[in-house]
Amino acid sequence: ACWASVVATGEAQMIVGHRGASFDAPENTLAAFQEAWKQKADAIEGDFYLTKDGHIVCLHDKTTERTTAGVAKLNPAESTLEQLRDLDVGSWKHEKYAGERIPLLEEVLATVPQTGKILVEIKCGPEIVEPLRIVLEKSGLRPEQIVIICFNEEVVKQCREKMPQYKANWLTSYKQNKLTGKWAPDLGTVLKKLESTKATGLGTQGRDEVVTAEFVRDIRKAGIECHVWTVNEADQAKRYAELGFDSITTDKPAEIRKAILGG
Ligand code: G3P
Ligand code: CA
Repeated sequence: ACWASVVATGEAQMIVGHRGASFDAPENTLAAFQEAWKQKADAIEGDFYLTKDGHIVCLHDKTTERTTAGVAKLNPAESTLEQLRDLDVGSWKHEKYAGERIPLLEEVLATVPQTGKILVEIKCGPEIVEPLRIVLEKSGLRPEQIVIICFNEEVVKQCREKMPQYKANWLTSYKQNKLTGKWAPDLGTVLKKLESTKATGLGTQGRDEVVTAEFVRDIRKAGIECHVWTVNEADQAKRYAELGFDSITTDKPAEIRKAILGG
């Protein structure tokens, strides 16, 4: 969407359930994704890796240590699906989620209703691109329901080249230089990276020092979508809604939806 039309219409923001409704349910499990749909999220976000035996699984960290409460420290790239599926990734959150398993991408895609969308975040390198294309194309979802997101520029670039039917957004967070106080990357660098990757959008960390009205306006002016994560406070969500972000990613879809849309 071009900047002018977005400003003029004041379109409603898409509310995205971060790792599902991960405040209430164990992140990146089917329980969390189902909870997000129940909380009227417009979309869900999940993190994905390629396993040693070529499956795509939903996990945030580089290992399973935290979400198994220390029971197993498996790295998905060095593990088989069978090894990963053996793990309980629900109990660490609450005993009522005991027995939740690491889902396959296929299973997460199958939760997406006709009217919903999914942000598929890639946490590994370009080796996932071809298997990802196959799973996405077999899913039965419409291309406009799927958005690939990634911090790795090479992954974004290859996804745009090999499966242009899907949007692919580049993600960035920021670091402050202790001596100069400046935040990096700056807007110029962000715009260059968006151009070189041919990303359809930016997914930006919600850092108030960087994400100003000018920042959002300049990204939008370049014809690029602007998405923000992870926003769990109502006041911050309202502020970002006013800046005109295309979506707001949150662990608490119902609460943030209420704060900015009134229900
Ligand atoms: O939506 C993007 C955001 O999820 C990136 O950060 O660490 O939660 O995957 P992380
Ligand atoms: Ca993520």
